[in-house]
Amino acid sequence: MNNEIFEKAEKEIEIAQHGIKNISDNEKLEQWRIKYFGRKGLILSFTQKIGGLPEELRPLAGRKINEWKNYLNSLYENKKKEIISSSAIKETFHHGSMPLYTYPGKEPDYAYLHPLTIVTKNMVDIFKKMGFGIHTGPEIETDYYNFSALNTPENHPARDMWDTLYLDYHEKILLRTHTSPVQIRIMKKIKPPFRIIAVGKCFRRDAFDSSHSPVFHQMEGLMVGHGINFAHLKGILIYFLKELFDSEIKVRFLPAYFPFTEPSAEISISCVICKGKGCSTCGGSGWLEILGAGMVHPEVFGNISRKDPAYSPDKITGFAFGMGIERIAMLKYGIDDIRHFYNNDIRFISQFG
Ligand code: DAH
Repeated sequence: MNNEIFEKAEKEIEIAQHGIKNISDNEKLEQWRIKYFGRKGLILSFTQKIGGLPEELRPLAGRKINEWKNYLNSLYENKKKEIISSSAIKETFHHGSMPLYTYPGKEPDYAYLHPLTIVTKNMVDIFKKMGFGIHTGPEIETDYYNFSALNTPENHPARDMWDTLYLDYHEKILLRTHTSPVQIRIMKKIKPPFRIIAVGKCFRRDAFDSSHSPVFHQMEGLMVGHGINFAHLKGILIYFLKELFDSEIKVRFLPAYFPFTEPSAEISISCVICKGKGCSTCGGSGWLEILGAGMVHPEVFGNISRKDPAYSPDKITGFAFGMGIERIAMLKYGIDDIRHFYNNDIRFISQFG
């Protein structure tokens, strides 16, 4: 008989627990509260029954009632909080008869890698595989690093190849016109043998048009050691170009002139658009010029070896190369205007990631 009272009470608590789950407004919650805590509610009616129990059971019943009371009270408080916060959401997001919180969310804009970033990474990864280290150098340079140390002293006619933006003409401080000055900075810092690449911004006094920009990017390479020769240069650059574009491309080396290399070469690949047949991209020639390169000029080593005999041109040789990253990205992706890279139009940028 007495156990029956407890069992009945436990059942009622279970019902209360289920009942509160479906409640979503204050009115129903108040009805629930009255049902369990009101004057004729469950808790009070059990409390009243304690008096009728045998004495030894009364303390247990008291404890039980307290337990139930606390449990029901916690259910009540939690539900109250839940209703308050969901009605706050309703007020904030309700628009006319349409609850806005049921609208599908707006898809966020993703970030995209810039095509120049993607191509640079592709290029760097190929050289990394061949054991090249990655270096950088300053964009603001002195005339010495940008020209003189690269065997292009003042009044040298080859200076016309690089139309220069000066920050201070008298102090000979300028924006580097190529990444080649990094060669000098590296050789002043580390000892041969080594192989490194350097990527960065370059600046020239060029007006913007579809193939020129006053700011652009280059990758420079330099490998110095004992017995480095032109075959190493060829092997490394042919491997690089085939990895970057396509193993089917042809690579062509033509003699060229740069003051800091001797001999120098201008390196082209068979046109990636027309496969060498001749089209508007390759100007009908079937070839695309991609790189400048050559064996480091003994004069360049001579400038360094005056302070560091490890660079004596009698002891070591090396090769260097440089290439424009925009041009490579344009050819890889079929982009016909360099200005697209700098307009920051997300419709353009989002096509490459
Ligand atoms: N610095 C040259 C340019 O901007 C490119 C270049 C040519 C870099 C030959 C080299 C090189 O390292 O060996 O046109």
